Amino acid sequence: MEPIIAGNWKMHKEPGESRSFVQELMALAGEMRDRITILIPAFTSLPAVSEVIRNTRFKLGAQNMHWERSGAYTGEVSGMFLKALGCEYVVIGHSERRHIMGETDEMVNRKMKTALEIGLIPIMCVGEKEAERDAGKTEAVIERQVEQGLKSIENEAHKIILAYEPVWAIGTGKTATPEQAAAAHAFIRSRLKKPSTILYGGSVKPDNIDTLMKEKEIQGVLVGGASLDAESFARIVKFQ
Ligand code: 13P
Repeated sequence: MEPIIAGNWKMHKEPGESRSFVQELMALAGEMRDRITILIPAFTSLPAVSEVIRNTRFKLGAQNMHWERSGAYTGEVSGMFLKALGCEYVVIGHSERRHIMGETDEMVNRKMKTALEIGLIPIMCVGEKEAERDAGKTEAVIERQVEQGLKSIENEAHKIILAYEPVWAIGTGKTATPEQAAAAHAFIRSRLKKPSTILYGGSVKPDNIDTLMKEKEIQGVLVGGASLDAESFARIVKFQ
C-alpha cells in the first residue's frame, strides 16, 4: 500500500484561491508516483479543485457528510453529491466535528455505514483530549471510538482508513512523538478485525514528516495547518 498524505484545509480557501493553490502545489510537488496525495477542501471549493486535478494523481476528499442520502436536512451535504463531484474519500468524525459540533459516536457510525454503502472511502478520525491522556484514559477513549464507530461494519475495516489525531496535538504545534503515535496506532490495530491503513494527524510539519514516516506503524498523515501553504505541503508530500 502506498503511503497517504492528506491535506485537510478545514474552513479555509474559497474556490478561486483553491484553484491557484493547487496549480502552485502541482508545480512544486511533481509526479509523486509512489504515494497517494488527497486534497480535502471545503465543500464549496470541491468543484474547482476537482477540475484542476482531473487527469493527475491527486485525489479528492470531503471533510464531512450526512448519514442519509437525501432528505429534509437543511444545511447538510449528502455523500452522493460528493461522489458526483469526484470525491473518493470523506473524513468522518474529525475531532472538530465531535467536540465543536457535537457529533456522537452513533452519528459517526451511521456516516461510516453510508459512506461504505455508496462507495466513498471513509477516513475515520479518533483521538483523546489532553485531560484524557493525563488521566491515563487514552486507550479507553480510542477503543470506544473505534468500537462504536465501526459497530456492525467491523468486517469491513480493510475498506476504511483510520486517522489517529490526538486532540492536544491539533493546531497546537505539539506533535505526538513518533513513539507515542506508533503506540496508539498499534493499539488501534489490535482492536481491528481486518487490517486498516492508519494515518497520524496533529501538527504534522515539514520538519517532522520524515521522522514520523519512518515509523512502520504510521502509513500516512492527515495534515491541517501545514497543508494550507503550497511550499510546506509540497515538502510534506515529498517526504523522504
Ligand atoms: P494540524 O495539522 O493543524 O494540527 O491539524 C490536524 C488536523 O486536524 C487534520 O485533520
